[in-house]
Amino acid sequence: MTNPGMREQYLEAMGIPVWVLREAAVPEPAADEVQPADAGGTDSQEAAPTPGAPDTAGNGRAVEWSDLQETVRTCTRCALHEGRTQTVFGVGSRTADLLIIGEAPGAEEDRRGEPFVGRAGKLLNAMLAAIHLAREEVYIANILKCRPPNNRDPRTDEQATCTPYLQRQIDLLQPRVILALGRVAAQWLLQSDAPIGRLRGRTFEYGSQSTPLVVSYHPAYLLRSPLQKSRSWEDLKSVKRLLKDP
Ligand code: URA
Repeated sequence: MTNPGMREQYLEAMGIPVWVLREAAVPEPAADEVQPADAGGTDSQEAAPTPGAPDTAGNGRAVEWSDLQETVRTCTRCALHEGRTQTVFGVGSRTADLLIIGEAPGAEEDRRGEPFVGRAGKLLNAMLAAIHLAREEVYIANILKCRPPNNRDPRTDEQATCTPYLQRQIDLLQPRVILALGRVAAQWLLQSDAPIGRLRGRTFEYGSQSTPLVVSYHPAYLLRSPLQKSRSWEDLKSVKRLLKDP
């Protein structure tokens, strides 16, 4: 759990003047609101289960998670597999309440096998910390599991081919809230062509479980357009509210 005393530092890292945030801040969570550290499994490129090891997923679905992870690791269903260093499955707690969905791995993610580990990932960690969540407490995945060449936008056929994996992750995780980061993730999940400015600021219902889904700006965009960080902060506060009371 994030040290509450670090909060202003994280907010400053997000580029938001502290006085604005103090005025608009979500109340500091009481001790009993603080989410416990994950008792379940976590995913990373190192997280492949040891054969014969006990089920540590915490939600009784370790085998399904590891089968899915292996299927993704060896996937050749689209041409993106030809250019990847490795697939980027997802990372975080398999019992997380919050699922964050980005677009696709970039160069650093392709190299390390973990989503959001570059500059945008550092900002994402700071954004999470501002709502008192550690990266390890949420689950982070992408629409695509493989890096598109030269970081181009995912193509529709690639998204259609790859997102059954994401859907299976959602089914296994059963998050209480989904945060879609950026236009690509938002438009795909909502099957909309509306600009992101029209998709953010609302709460959608996703899938058969009607999971609350919030759209916000991609951290990479926020790095380029820091003035939008105050809107992103509004979105994060919505996420926090929904996690308390979906
Ligand atoms: N951008 C994304 O959308 N996902 C990542 O994993 C990294 C950068």
